[in-house]
Amino acid sequence: MHDGSGRIAVQNLTKQFGAVTAVQNLSFTVEPGSVTGFLGPNGAGKTTTLRMLLGLVKPTAGTATINGRQHHELGNPARVVGSVLDNGSFHPKRTARDHLRVYAAAIGVPDQRVDELLGLVGLAPAADRKAGGFSLGMRQRLALATALLGDPQVLVLDEPANGLDPEGIAWLRNFLRSFAAQGRTVLVSSHLLSEVEQTIDQVVIVSAGMTRYYGPLENLRKSQRSRVLVQPADATGLVSALREAGFNEVEPTQDGRVAVPGATVQQIGDIAAKAGIAVYGMEEQQADLEQLFFQLTSPQYSGAPIPGVPQQQPGWGQQVPQAQYQQPGPQSGPQMQYQQPGPQSGPQAQYQQPHQQPGQQPQPNQGWGGQQQ
Ligand SMILES: Nc1ncnc2c1ncn2[C@@H]1O[C@H](COP(=O)(O)OP(=O)(O)OP(=O)(O)O)[C@@H](O)[C@H]1O
Ligand SMILES: [Mg+2]
Repeated sequence: MHDGSGRIAVQNLTKQFGAVTAVQNLSFTVEPGSVTGFLGPNGAGKTTTLRMLLGLVKPTAGTATINGRQHHELGNPARVVGSVLDNGSFHPKRTARDHLRVYAAAIGVPDQRVDELLGLVGLAPAADRKAGGFSLGMRQRLALATALLGDPQVLVLDEPANGLDPEGIAWLRNFLRSFAAQGRTVLVSSHLLSEVEQTIDQVVIVSAGMTRYYGPLENLRKSQRSRVLVQPADATGLVSALREAGFNEVEPTQDGRVAVPGATVQQIGDIAAKAGIAVYGMEEQQADLEQLFFQLTSPQYSGAPIPGVPQQQPGWGQQVPQAQYQQPGPQSGPQMQYQQPGPQSGPQAQYQQPHQQPGQQPQPNQGWGGQQQ
């Protein structure tokens, strides 16, 4: 019935809702054994794409397949793909356990699996409570348990971190990584790169229904250009010396320093010494990945190339997706933003829990269970 590969393939997918083009000629593949982030701002077309993949919306053009088949061709789809698209669609009067039992019966899974999953997602203490009284985070967990009932090969989650507390997010991250480490496929959407940055290895970035970047997150990271800010005695002299040495993008900053992209402090120090210019200080700066994400997804994004990120379109269906993005317009993109190097702070810190060992099953008591009434 299907090829069993666990591969998700989205090819030239388009969805038109009347005058609104929700998804426009979108193509990417998601390989098994990896967690792929499907990222884009509100209204970018993420949910619409996932709904097409899951057979809930008919594409205007193109195809979205799992295991080489469209959703309706999968036989018993719950055994192939588990999904969470909407965490609010539970019968409010039904308990969590009864909800899972109904679904288990529908897909031919024994009741015993229901309690296993309630434990896995940390809902055991709330198993006999009615889902109508569940918090957003509890509904997310119940939805995830439902998705996992059929022990699927592929997991598709739309904004699963919404409503989760920091502990829940850390648990989800570990769970998804270990799920992928078993050779399974995970596609997880988010409108925040920082929310999933620690979880994903591949990334598909969409904006206005179009692909902006598709490839390993690592390549996107590497594409961040570092620069060195130099405090010289003679800024004009140093700019000339650096340009003569081939650093053409060098420019003075408003505070009297000189910004040098793509050079090391040693190179700059040597050039300054040779030119007889005293240097009072140098500071290395890295571009911010989040800024890069904004740049890629902002409506004003103009298709300026990102240094280090290949732009050629790979043959679709390649084993390992190559970085690529469509060129939505003429070049003249905003300048890359820079941030101080150093440890991440703020909300991101909550996702930086230690990784679970690959292949290790999440423990039932790792979740939120102890915190629930
Ligand atoms: N059933 C529908 N009828 C009309 N327009 C729709 C429908 N579903 C989605 N759209 C439109 O398609 C576009 C993409 O919406 P979609 O929900 O796929 O975005 P999203 O990336 O999931 O956004 P978010 O981050 O807010 O969840 C939006 O302009 C939305 O208004
Ligand atoms: Mg959405």
